[in-house]
Amino acid sequence: MRSFSKLRYANVHRGAYRVSLEASKAYEDAHEIVGRHINAWSWEEVIFTRNTTEAIQLAALTLLTNGFISEGSEIIVSESEHHSNLLPWVRIARLAKAKIKLIPVNSEGIPRWDILEDLISEKTRVVSVGHVSNVTGYKSDVRRIAEIAHKYGSLVVVDGAQSVPHMKVNVRELNIDFLAFSGHKMLGPTGIGVLWGRLEYLNKLEPPLGGGGTVRRVKLESNNINIEWNNPPWKFEAGTPPIIEAIGLSEAVSYLSRIGMENVESHERILTEYTLSRLGELEGVRILGPRDSSRRLGIVSFNVRSIDPSMVGAWLDSYNIAVRSGLHCAHILHDKLGESNGSVRASFYIYNCREDIDKLIDALKELIVKVSRS
Ligand SMILES: Cc1ncc(COP(=O)(O)O)c(C=O)c1O
Repeated sequence: MRSFSKLRYANVHRGAYRVSLEASKAYEDAHEIVGRHINAWSWEEVIFTRNTTEAIQLAALTLLTNGFISEGSEIIVSESEHHSNLLPWVRIARLAKAKIKLIPVNSEGIPRWDILEDLISEKTRVVSVGHVSNVTGYKSDVRRIAEIAHKYGSLVVVDGAQSVPHMKVNVRELNIDFLAFSGHKMLGPTGIGVLWGRLEYLNKLEPPLGGGGTVRRVKLESNNINIEWNNPPWKFEAGTPPIIEAIGLSEAVSYLSRIGMENVESHERILTEYTLSRLGELEGVRILGPRDSSRRLGIVSFNVRSIDPSMVGAWLDSYNIAVRSGLHCAHILHDKLGESNGSVRASFYIYNCREDIDKLIDALKELIVKVSRS
């Protein structure tokens, strides 16, 4: 990113001078690299956004403004979704007079996608599923969900914010229609996210946002403004895009590809298993989500007795341990789990090791002793 800023700092697709052409080529290559990472059919299916939230919003708005979601349509999401995969659909449903149907969670916070066939109907236009929960780490069977959704003519949107950084995600194998994820969760910079969509849909759909870069030609004809939209992905990337951030994300993706996503996943699985077993040693700790590590990925959320999660977070910070605490933008799920104050979340990546977990456990042990004495 530093060298791009120094040597190729120019806008893309707007100039015939060398630096602009080089910047454009690097930006196009970034689409190609990211597309290959998720096994897209074409680089044209990769739309850069600011983050997952904006990517899901873009998918939802596109489906609304093209009339795919309208009065009486149904949208299915689960109670365990991150707000990024809930609120855009709620908003779109309100605008369109469509209906949101919720897949309930069980006592472990696992979404009951097994009852999808009881909820889905011919009116269902979208099933939007969080691939991996950012609270429980539970991995949903997206392939199976897509199989059922497609039988009813529904599209399948996947929130991959917690899956794409941690495992091999193959859009063809999953047989999905849209996928959203963020750069900052996979060694990339902030301010860059991706919406992947099947080219057959992107070709047909008009973009909800217009502006520079989205059109091939605009003409004033008999007092009418006629718009000829550009090809995807450009027609969906309105205005000057996050160029440097896209270059940063493509470098991060190349780095992760060299490591191998299978290796990233197995490393995290070992750490998750270890964390679950070590946390199990502590008295008064409640782990959220399934105990079986094969059903979850890279995240362990928990609570220590009735201590407020933010207090636990501050205590761990004094040991230089960085964890998230709070409701993690998943309020409904926490309420359903009876943890309305939230939880503490340890999340792992390729740079973590067992010693990090040992330090976490030692610090928690000290906290428990201190609290039981007071
Ligand atoms: C499952 C899930 N979905 C969506 C998001 C939103 O990501 P962003 O804030 O990058 O838009 C997150 C981020 O925490 C997440 O964990």
